[in-house]
Amino acid sequence: MTTMTAHRLLGLLVITVLAAAAAGNEVTSNVTLDVNDIPQRYDEAQLWRIYNISEGMQQKVPVGEVLENKFGGNIWKENSKFLDISISKDHLKGARSFLSAHRLDAEVLSDNIQSMIDEEMMEGISGSTAADGMRTKKATRSNMHWKDYHDLETIYGFMREIRSKFPNIVRLYTIGQTAEGRDLKVLRISENPRENKKVWIDGGIHAREWISPATVTFILYQLMANWENQPAHIRGLTWYIMPVMNPDGYEYSRTTNRLWRKNRSASRRAQCNGVDLNRNFDIGWNGYGSSTNPCSDTYRGSSPASEKETKAVAEFLAKRKYNLEAYLTYHSYGQMIVYPWAYKAVKVKDSAVLQRVASLAVDRIAQKTGSTYRAAVTHEVLGIAGGGSDDWSRAALGVKYVYTVELRDRGAYGFVLPPRYIKDTALEGWTVAETVAQAIKTSSDKP
Ligand code: ARG
Ligand code: ZN
Repeated sequence: MTTMTAHRLLGLLVITVLAAAAAGNEVTSNVTLDVNDIPQRYDEAQLWRIYNISEGMQQKVPVGEVLENKFGGNIWKENSKFLDISISKDHLKGARSFLSAHRLDAEVLSDNIQSMIDEEMMEGISGSTAADGMRTKKATRSNMHWKDYHDLETIYGFMREIRSKFPNIVRLYTIGQTAEGRDLKVLRISENPRENKKVWIDGGIHAREWISPATVTFILYQLMANWENQPAHIRGLTWYIMPVMNPDGYEYSRTTNRLWRKNRSASRRAQCNGVDLNRNFDIGWNGYGSSTNPCSDTYRGSSPASEKETKAVAEFLAKRKYNLEAYLTYHSYGQMIVYPWAYKAVKVKDSAVLQRVASLAVDRIAQKTGSTYRAAVTHEVLGIAGGGSDDWSRAALGVKYVYTVELRDRGAYGFVLPPRYIKDTALEGWTVAETVAQAIKTSSDKP
């Protein structure tokens, strides 16, 4: 049995023990048990997609909010066309009648979220075993592969390994720590840090969007596996890569609550930890699309950049804004490539260029994997929301190619994307990065 598998099975065991404790069995050991550490289960919870919520209706009865506050709901995704929300088992009936009272209907995307989560884990375990077999054959050292999602330490180990394989062009930074004391790590790949144009890539701002760190590590691998043979427009750039911007949240989503979104910083209200890092940046912070309630999944925090993760990234980038040409941030889900603005219903002056490059990436993705992505301005497809890292990089640093990439899927599995889709999805993410690198080159070519 591999360490990975053993580790995960151990995780299951711990979950079982804790679940037994949660079910009312006495906890005999004298370890202190924090309620926040009891794994959250989603047995028979359903995932609903609700269409046709008119604006007038939303004004009077904010459907998502009511379902969250009164019916054990948890919003997965909200946009101009639909609302995806999970409803816990005990509230299914009530939520149904609430909807029909308001003449709304829900399509059931999943009728048991816990079994989706369990299947995701089992598939990852068997996939990893196969990958380990391949590993002994090829005798490479890395524990990294894209048949499963990995814990933070494996991702950081991979980053260290890349650095030691390419000591002359790779630098590994610790740009800060999280509230729970984990390091925030960024890799820089560059043959000429003083002169090259720069690209920043991050993932894992939102904990539960596991495909995002998986994609960003894959991008790192694509770059380095073949660095010497990369075309000049890739080798001639300085790449900053941060696979996990929210390590505390990421680990919490692996150990305790698969659907956790925010970071884990403490709040005055117990049970309501965490700030939405993508609402915490200093751009339109006090505006629409975020919450002042610490219990909300889109809580913006007590002030702009109140969070250590936000502050570390903002300060790191502000110092390096010279020549910074692209800011790419990977999220899930929805299959979209979106660009500013999000905090107001206005397009940037050069939005035609951003639309063109995004559309090109969309076309290439369709050719490569067959997936359908959509290119659009953020506020039109995802609604207005302030405090985003994307808008901030444009407003505060003047970065030109700013994109938020919403990876797979379109709702069939949502955040709980089975590991068998990692590779193709990551390839789609890489395609966006490649296309942007090429656009940077083209726009700097002398006529
Ligand atoms: N799903 C992402 C979020 O809600 C979309 C980010 C788009 N950009 C933005 N600034 N809202 O954070
Ligand atoms: Zn996200």
